[in-house]
Amino acid sequence: MSTPTTRIALVTGAGQGIGRAIALRLARDGFDLALADIKPEGLEQVAAEVQALGRKSQVQRCDVSDRSQVFDAVAQAREHLGRLDVMINNAGIAQVAPLLDARPEDVQRILGINLQGVLWGIQAAAEAFKAQQGGGKIINACSIAGHEGYPLLGIYCATKFAVRALTQAAAKELAHAGITVNSYCPGVVGTDMWVEIDRRMAEVTGARLGESYDRFVGNIALGRAETPDDVAAFVSYLSSPDANYMTGQSVMIDGGLVYR
Ligand SMILES: NC(=O)c1ccc[n+]([C@@H]2O[C@H](COP(=O)([O-])OP(=O)(O)OC[C@H]3O[C@@H](n4cnc5c(N)ncnc54)[C@H](O)[C@@H]3O)[C@@H](O)[C@H]2O)c1
Repeated sequence: MSTPTTRIALVTGAGQGIGRAIALRLARDGFDLALADIKPEGLEQVAAEVQALGRKSQVQRCDVSDRSQVFDAVAQAREHLGRLDVMINNAGIAQVAPLLDARPEDVQRILGINLQGVLWGIQAAAEAFKAQQGGGKIINACSIAGHEGYPLLGIYCATKFAVRALTQAAAKELAHAGITVNSYCPGVVGTDMWVEIDRRMAEVTGARLGESYDRFVGNIALGRAETPDDVAAFVSYLSSPDANYMTGQSVMIDGGLVYR
C-alpha cells in the first residue's frame, strides 16, 4: 500500500479559540482539515483561512455530546477528504460555580460535552483508524485543571481529570492497533472561555472584571498569558511522526503554572 502524502485531521470545537489555532497550525504543517463545531458561525471563516493556506477543508455542524453526530463527523471527513489520520477532541465548555451549588442539569451538560464528547471521539476515530488498517493519533483537550482541583471550577476539573483517565485507558486499549492517545493541558489561554470564566468569577466572588484572570496569569512563571498558538505548537508536535513513541500522556503546556 502506498503511503498517503497528505494527512487528514479532524478538529472539534474548531470555530474559534484553541481549536481554530490548531486547525490553522496543522494546515501550515500540511494537513487537510475537517472542522466541526456546534456553532456554525466561525467554521466557514476558519475553513476559508485553511484554504488560504493551500489546504483543503470541510466543515460540519456537530454537537460532540451526541455520539451519532461525532461518528457522522468522522464519516463525513473520510468521505470528503479521503481518510483520517489525527482526531483532535478539542471541544469543551467551562462552568464556574461553588461545588455546593452544582445541580444535576449543569453536571450532566458539562459531562456530556467534556467527558462523553471525548469518549465518542475516541470511539469514532478508533473505528475509522482500524478500518484503514494502520496507525492513527487521538489527541484530547485536557487542562491544568486535569491535574489540579481549583475552587469554583470543581466540576470542570472533574471532567478534565476524567479526560486524563480516558487518555491513559484508551492508550493501553488501542496500542495493539498502532493507535496513540495523548492530551494537551493548557494553562490560562486568552480565549472566550476565559472571558466567561472571569465574568462568572467576578459574579460569584465580587472580584472586579479582569481580576481573576490577572491573578491566574500572575502565577505563570514565564510571565504572560498563553496564546492559542502556544497550544497549537504543542498539538503540532503531538500530531507529527516525532510523537510516534508517546502514548497515554497528558502534558502541561502552561508557561510554568502546574508542575507534575
Ligand atoms: N482557554 C483556556 O484557558 C483553556 C485551558 C485549558 C484547557 N482548555 C480547553 O481547550 C478546549 C478549547 O477551549 P477554548 O479556550 O478554545 O474555548 P472556546 O470557548 O473559545 O471555544 C470552544 C469551542 O468549542 C465549541 N463547542 C462548545 N460546545 C460544543 C459541543 N457540544 N460540540 C461541538 N463544539 C462545541 C464552541 O462552539 C467553541 O467554538 C476546551 O476543551 C477547553 O476546556 C482551555
